[in-house]
Amino acid sequence: MDIVQLHDKKFRLYIPDSEIQKIVQKIALSLEKDYSTFKNPLFLVILNGSFMFASDLMKHFKLPCEISFVRFTSYQNTQSTGIVKELIGLNEDVSDRTVIVIEDIIDTGHTLHKIIQTLQKHNNKDYRIATVFFKPNSYQLNYPIHYVGKQIPNDFIVGYGLDYNGLGRNLSNVYVLHQ
Ligand code: IMP
Ligand code: MG
Repeated sequence: MDIVQLHDKKFRLYIPDSEIQKIVQKIALSLEKDYSTFKNPLFLVILNGSFMFASDLMKHFKLPCEISFVRFTSYQNTQSTGIVKELIGLNEDVSDRTVIVIEDIIDTGHTLHKIIQTLQKHNNKDYRIATVFFKPNSYQLNYPIHYVGKQIPNDFIVGYGLDYNGLGRNLSNVYVLHQ
């Protein structure tokens, strides 16, 4: 299926499932290498978009680890609003933990900024960021992003957890807005 219709918009195939799986395996390998001497990292998954990445990633990460979820929202239609709301907060004690933040996509970086603020508020000093997709031309922060699956232009994409107004999260390929 090369074209999908979600609400009023058409999207065309952009990154096939096979490529995404390779990207995720590569991130898992890097994490295993970097975290082999750390004890029990906490994967902090940013809902909703990151659920598919988190599931695939953790199947490949064979070291002892834990998982927890937070939920933020910033997107409306196909644009970031710039206002990040916390819908599910952090309930874990992260003060003495190694945290790996799991993101589907980093766009402007507003959500990431909020997550980093939250971690700092909870006295965490040891975190790294892993994302499947990254839009460097849209990124407005200076925080380093430690694990990037694939850099993409400022196009709006759906699939592999990413949605357009709620639809498209269940697609295993990634699709881009068809002009
Ligand atoms: P940021 O706060 O602008 O970095 O955007 C972060 C969040 O916006 C991501 O975690 C996604 O949930 C959503 N987002 C950003 N770009 C896209 C896109 O191309 N398609 C769907 N959702 C996106
Ligand atoms: Mg997200």
